[in-house]
Amino acid sequence: MRIVRSTAAMQRLARQWQRQGQRVGFVPTMGYLHAGHLSLVQEARRRIGPVGQVVVSIYVNPTQFGPQEDLSRYPRDLKRDLRLCRAAGADVVFTPTDAEMYPGWGKAADEPAHGDARPTFSTYIVEEQLSRCMEGAARPTHFRGVTTVVAKLFNLVLPELTVFGAKDWQQAAIIQRMTHDLNFPVKIIVAPTVRALDGLALSSRNQYLDAAQRAQAVILSQAIKRARVAVRRKSMPAARLKTDLRNFIASAPLARLDYVEAFDPDTLTPVITAKRGTQLALAVFFGPTRLIDNGRL
Ligand code: PAF
Repeated sequence: MRIVRSTAAMQRLARQWQRQGQRVGFVPTMGYLHAGHLSLVQEARRRIGPVGQVVVSIYVNPTQFGPQEDLSRYPRDLKRDLRLCRAAGADVVFTPTDAEMYPGWGKAADEPAHGDARPTFSTYIVEEQLSRCMEGAARPTHFRGVTTVVAKLFNLVLPELTVFGAKDWQQAAIIQRMTHDLNFPVKIIVAPTVRALDGLALSSRNQYLDAAQRAQAVILSQAIKRARVAVRRKSMPAARLKTDLRNFIASAPLARLDYVEAFDPDTLTPVITAKRGTQLALAVFFGPTRLIDNGRL
């Protein structure tokens, strides 16, 4: 397995693969890998075939974090990540620095610490429809950072297909829209969420939870199951479903609901009536830690 650190070297390698007619599958991550990420690597390998190239990027992208968010304490363990990538069958790990990805980052004395990469990086990609609700409303500059870094990574890795996790449903929808709108020749695959035995969706942020919070964090997946049972019996007003779920989340004393939304899985538009096929998403705080989950009802 090869480790590539510079953007120039990554693009050189990708161009070489292109000339050789090699197939390339790509899994972008922010590292601190868990079984959910590894399932994306395996899916990329399955789709691209045994002789294709599977690239995993490990990069904690500063532009997708807000000023009060967890950029500085986001978990990192590159040595362990590299071991896991090798075992999962990755061919290349691309792990650039901020200086490579956002030239000028952190150099100017008057530069803001987070969320902005001035003075020498000043071009962002903004998706304007799907990015406004849910995660976008709660984290106003988040998706601008995600679309920008993913577009940059597409230009550096030149993949034929990229695998994203369904746990970040809105992110996957926005990337799909960006790929279509900007004509990136990349197929977007959305792979199922991987869960712990009790149902908690795997996330690098789960490691922030203490034992009591971890025990109660199961409330997110339980809320989705509860909603599924309710609407499969009979469709119901989304407002009534959301009130029931708000009360349900409040039954976990350490949980503080940020939002719960019932929406169309493709357009992300909130629905009036929740029924089979509606998508449900929620974000819940445990102390400073914010967890998200979603599922099809
Ligand atoms: O889902 C993530 O881990 C990140 O948002 C991504 C897609 C790697 C971009 O930084």
